[in-house]
Amino acid sequence: MTTSTNLITVDEQAKFFHLHNEQISYIFRVIPEIGQLEQVYFGPVITTPLDFHHLISREFRPSNNQLIDDGTSSLEHIRQEYPCFGTTDFRQGAYAIRYASGDYISEFKYQQFAITSGYPDLGELPHARYHDESAATLTVTLQDQYSPLQIQLHYTISTKNAVIIRSATFVNTSNTDSYHLDRALSLNLDLPDADYDLIHLHGAWAKEMQVERRPLMTGRMAIDSDRGASSHQHNPFLALAATDSTEKDGLVYGATLLYSGNFLGQVEVDNYDVTRLSLGISPTQFDWTLTPQSKFQTPEAVLACSHTGLTGMSQAFQQFFREHVIDQKWVDQPKPILINNWEATYFDFDEAKLLKIARQAKQLDLGLFVLDDGWFGKRDSDNSSLGNWTVDHHKLPAGLSHLASEVNQLGLKFGLWFEPEMISLDTPLAAEHPEWIVGHPQKRRSQGRNQYVLDFSNPDVVSAIFEQMAAILHSAAISYVKWDMNRYISEAFSTYLPAERQGEFYHRYIMGVYHLYHLLITEFPELLIESCAGGGGRFDGGILYYASQGWTSDDTDAVERLKIQYGASMLYPLQSMGSHVSAVPNHQVGRRTPLSTRAAVALFGTFGYELDITKLTATELAEIKAQIQFAKSVQPLIQKGKFYRLASPFTSNRPAWEVYDSETKTGLIGYYQILNPANPSYHRLQLRGLVPTQKYQLTEINLSNNTILSTEEVFGDELQNIGIILNKDYTNKAAEYWQRPQPTDFASRLFQLKPTE
Ligand code: DGJ
Repeated sequence: MTTSTNLITVDEQAKFFHLHNEQISYIFRVIPEIGQLEQVYFGPVITTPLDFHHLISREFRPSNNQLIDDGTSSLEHIRQEYPCFGTTDFRQGAYAIRYASGDYISEFKYQQFAITSGYPDLGELPHARYHDESAATLTVTLQDQYSPLQIQLHYTISTKNAVIIRSATFVNTSNTDSYHLDRALSLNLDLPDADYDLIHLHGAWAKEMQVERRPLMTGRMAIDSDRGASSHQHNPFLALAATDSTEKDGLVYGATLLYSGNFLGQVEVDNYDVTRLSLGISPTQFDWTLTPQSKFQTPEAVLACSHTGLTGMSQAFQQFFREHVIDQKWVDQPKPILINNWEATYFDFDEAKLLKIARQAKQLDLGLFVLDDGWFGKRDSDNSSLGNWTVDHHKLPAGLSHLASEVNQLGLKFGLWFEPEMISLDTPLAAEHPEWIVGHPQKRRSQGRNQYVLDFSNPDVVSAIFEQMAAILHSAAISYVKWDMNRYISEAFSTYLPAERQGEFYHRYIMGVYHLYHLLITEFPELLIESCAGGGGRFDGGILYYASQGWTSDDTDAVERLKIQYGASMLYPLQSMGSHVSAVPNHQVGRRTPLSTRAAVALFGTFGYELDITKLTATELAEIKAQIQFAKSVQPLIQKGKFYRLASPFTSNRPAWEVYDSETKTGLIGYYQILNPANPSYHRLQLRGLVPTQKYQLTEINLSNNTILSTEEVFGDELQNIGIILNKDYTNKAAEYWQRPQPTDFASRLFQLKPTE
């Protein structure tokens, strides 16, 4: 018998499961003799008949432990769906359960399947959402042979996206017994070969999202975070790109997690060139007690597959985030262009200074004034007052509501910075509730940026912080919040949790963070929240579920940002990346880049400003006004268009990228020159994603005054195959050549595409 929907086909006799849409196929089966799940295929769509038995291969491998005495039932040599270490498989497993006797011996066998429409609702744990008839979920239930435990594996596919969403639910059906979950990953994928490069995004503070690509080797390679947040160091993303794949072509798998806490992403290549990709909550210090009649739900892993290289993978992720993760309220709505006072004033401000900036911002047609760190308690430096969310009346004698209403009267919205999860020791909260601080009362508790972490695994702490924040948000017209988080968790210990449940701390902590987000957006549904963690220290799919944009990095230098935003674009949509024009010399690297280049980079994100606009020259102000006018005109394109990386800042002196919207046939191309070479070579920039037969108007924009430098009509095929000719034609123009404005380092050019008819 066959159960079939337009997305999932199940051969109930042979027990083959096939998830499919127009782009991808994902096939696995139950091995009849042993009841285990076997991965059969994941890749570009397969339209062969239902029977996939011919896809099974088994070498006879002597000297192995066998589940049954048949020579081929060693799980070590079977590509599995959700494996467990130790039951004849010596690779690292997806889960580990500790039983009452202290053993880890599990044997989960297939029991049943169910198909439901739409996406599973995981409550406050971020998950793919926005039900429509175009998605379906297959749930396969496995039953332990030694306990009343079940594992439900969920697989969701939709008609539109080239992604599979996977997660697992551990269900304890016992009325009396508890079990320990020491490892519970979200995703395991065993691929039949090892001909891949691993691509991931690594970094540190102010240099997040650095792209690294290197060939797989036999053995394990892991990226992870055990810092309490997804981290600057490794983004929860990895890709396996076929060794011959490029930006444009070839097979690429990508995986990410809708989760903001500790994670592990790992690739293990065995001695027969089988590649195991795993992703999920980090097992470090993880120990979840499955009490009687309880469940544990893993975060969702999103698995993308592209046969059009890295571009296809990135576009699949970006589309998925836009359509199924980011709050739809913000996806297409024009975002206000903001001015943030942090790099303008740091902690040194008063109402007059802020209003001077706001007045200037109004002159420039900005839409939102954001008051960053320093408005509360006695916060004159970073060693005080976190957790005391009351207005500093020395700096703001008339209070926040007065400031907000003054800003509003100018015609700007008002936004405010918080760092909800943190505490300074000089606050009433720290004195009243020292037990709310993460750490063991009798042991070392390290500070980070002079601050400590509040125990968000304790619901009382989350409620108390929510009350303080809600009081402030009710007290003034605040339409935007920047939620910062500036240190990682070390010496983790919660006085709220009993000794045997300390292994639950990190996950409960991040669930507390999500709960506070949930409380805030429920109480203030119109609030736009930007996440931040010392820049991109918690920039991930989980946080995007609650905060539709994130501060990508504290590094605002345009040249550095080319790499950071390029790296982030591996999976995140442009509209999620906060990117601001800041001052020169740049505060992080001291570089002087032209104002036009700073804007030409920041435009490819959620655009804003972060400098003292009261100290600029009339020429600079006029230039900024022109930039803002231009930014507004391209915002719908940036939010909706597809992103193409044309040349990498990691390998090229002339990086370039393009956004193109196939509906409106409009595009924007950014081309950058990092260092200016003498006597330059010829250069062309080939565009992508256009309609070959469409005639476009190609316009070079002068961002300094929002005027047109040149315009011509060109067909799509010429722009894609020949490209934009970037050198000038100086034939018979020697004089013009010698009198030209000297090209500079850190230069940029912007091109716009519009259909001619
Ligand atoms: C780190 C953030 O990334 C900055 O933008 C700024 O908000 C500071 N914290 C404030 O302390």
